[in-house]
Amino acid sequence: MLKNAMLLSSSPTTATREQFWWAAALWHNSPHLINRRLYGSILLLSVRVVPRPDLLSLLAELNASGWSEASRDALVTQLKQAGVEVLGTSDLVLDGAATNTGTFLTLTLKLLLPRNDDKFAKGLEMALFDWAAGQVTFLGDRSGAEVPSVCVSFPYGLHHEDGNISVYVRDVSLEERSAVWLKEHLLPRLVKWADLATPGQSSPSATSLSLVPVQEYNTLYQHLKKKYGKEMVKIWPEVTDPHKFVYEDVAIATYLLLVWEKEREHKGLMDRKQYFVDLGCGNGLLVHILTQEGHPGLGLDVRRRRIWDMYPSSTKLEVRTITPCASSLFPQADWLIGNHSDELTPWIPVIAARSSPSCRFFLLPCCAYEFDGSKYQRENSSRSLYSDYMSYVLSVCEVCGFTTSVDRLRIPSTKRICFIGYKRRYDADRAEKTDRTIQEFINSRGSKNKVRNSLTSSEGYWSEFKPRGDKEVVRNCTQLDKCLLEDIVSLVSRILLNKHRNISVASIDGEERMWNAGGCLMLNEVAQALPREKLKHLKKQCSGLQTLLKNHPWVFKVEQGTVQLRIPRRRSDITGTGCRTKLCWFHVNHPDGCLLPDDDCAYQHL
Ligand SMILES: C[S@@+](CC[C@H](N)C(=O)[O-])C[C@H]1O[C@@H](n2cnc3c(N)ncnc32)[C@H](O)[C@@H]1O
Repeated sequence: MLKNAMLLSSSPTTATREQFWWAAALWHNSPHLINRRLYGSILLLSVRVVPRPDLLSLLAELNASGWSEASRDALVTQLKQAGVEVLGTSDLVLDGAATNTGTFLTLTLKLLLPRNDDKFAKGLEMALFDWAAGQVTFLGDRSGAEVPSVCVSFPYGLHHEDGNISVYVRDVSLEERSAVWLKEHLLPRLVKWADLATPGQSSPSATSLSLVPVQEYNTLYQHLKKKYGKEMVKIWPEVTDPHKFVYEDVAIATYLLLVWEKEREHKGLMDRKQYFVDLGCGNGLLVHILTQEGHPGLGLDVRRRRIWDMYPSSTKLEVRTITPCASSLFPQADWLIGNHSDELTPWIPVIAARSSPSCRFFLLPCCAYEFDGSKYQRENSSRSLYSDYMSYVLSVCEVCGFTTSVDRLRIPSTKRICFIGYKRRYDADRAEKTDRTIQEFINSRGSKNKVRNSLTSSEGYWSEFKPRGDKEVVRNCTQLDKCLLEDIVSLVSRILLNKHRNISVASIDGEERMWNAGGCLMLNEVAQALPREKLKHLKKQCSGLQTLLKNHPWVFKVEQGTVQLRIPRRRSDITGTGCRTKLCWFHVNHPDGCLLPDDDCAYQHL
């Protein structure tokens, strides 16, 4: 199909044709799952077209400028004018996979959205599915005015035949970076997906951000990241990792701002922005961003944080212990927020239901807690604790009478599922009955012989709820003094970097550059170079320098009494799970950055 194409690479597979199509469609629908340069994609058009031998050349010749803004009808007209015989639109990318014997091909047009729009421009990509031949060809937009387009800049095809999945390319050298990426990253993932695909599973897509427009999300996220992200990371006075917290809260704020904007449009509330209360607001950054973006609101937490003093007085934060009871309701609130709200998590829908007939909530659960503050016990042992708890939280939302939407956020945390209680399933006059149902449900969750209060009691819905104290509980040595640990990691890395050892690495654009890998020193040499006070503190808290360095294997390599910086590891070198959720230490701290490109590194580059 792809004329004059060269075979780039081929990999054996046990996948059937149906499994191959499932994997190819997943790559087509959610390319950001593999391509870390992408934030997501928007399907602009999917049509059935009549096969013709020169179809790909014809498509490659098309001038697609202005197509990303065009309507579906206008796009179909453009295709027809170019000589493409369009049979009709199709919603499903897999629509010809099972039955098509060559009567039609499926042509799609997508807009690919870059994660970082300073480095890459949005790009149009066409995909042509040849169901009978087991081949899909991708034609990316090669343009890009100031920055290059995020599309793969040459045509490439994926082909399933004779127990192999192959990648074909055209108009490119096989050593070109993107070609190597297709071979080393795309192909192995595709084969894995295809081999593991469940036949019969239709329309694969990993839906995240399903309640907001992805393109607007990306634009607003980049804007807020610039506006709050860098500055906050610099001044962060807490012992927690600033990158994780700042970018996570920027992402959650982006999401909420768009959900609320959509709600205002839907309800015709354009003159008033929603008022929110964040229960268990922690560092208060989410409250700060939402307030700065024009939403009046309040953050409550049992414990004050140092950073609270750095916000302007317009950011309203209060120390308050929330005990679920009649006096802990928020009748003025349009929205309640429970962002990783720990023990308060199951209570958020209850408090929203009781606060006012119009109160809505956003809930992003993290650790699993019951109504009485005890750890939630898994009910279905065939599922993970997290997924079991998510089902439980959803059932709480439903008992509380909410029409609840479930979505997945794009945040550094691995706990990404959120619940949005938009509206009630009952009329205001049935509120009392719902109260009783909620009370019965809460009662059914506790030990049978304890005395519980009624919903309207001022002491609490449930006398068993014990709010946490206002002092942070330190549980083990690794949590004792994160500042001290981070200081020592930073000092040791500087000592090693001062023993310059430059190695040559290829940069993203293929140019060679030098990267300081630092020296290799005896542990006692490093200990002597560290301030005595720090070492003394460390001895008191953990077992010593060697343990600390060994506990940071992503930064240091410790062996035979020596320490050196680790050479950043590729994703393919690491077998354990979870590494992609951690930030890359080198990307953030090394003066030359990480030596690996974003896509290759085993850890996250933000
Ligand atoms: C895991 S932290 C999350 C903080 C913040 N929402 C975030 O995501 O960064 C949970 C927060 O809930 C607060 N919290 C727990 N129980 C509370 C209660 N009964 N009343 C007020 N705050 C509470 C804790 O102090 C803590 O700051």
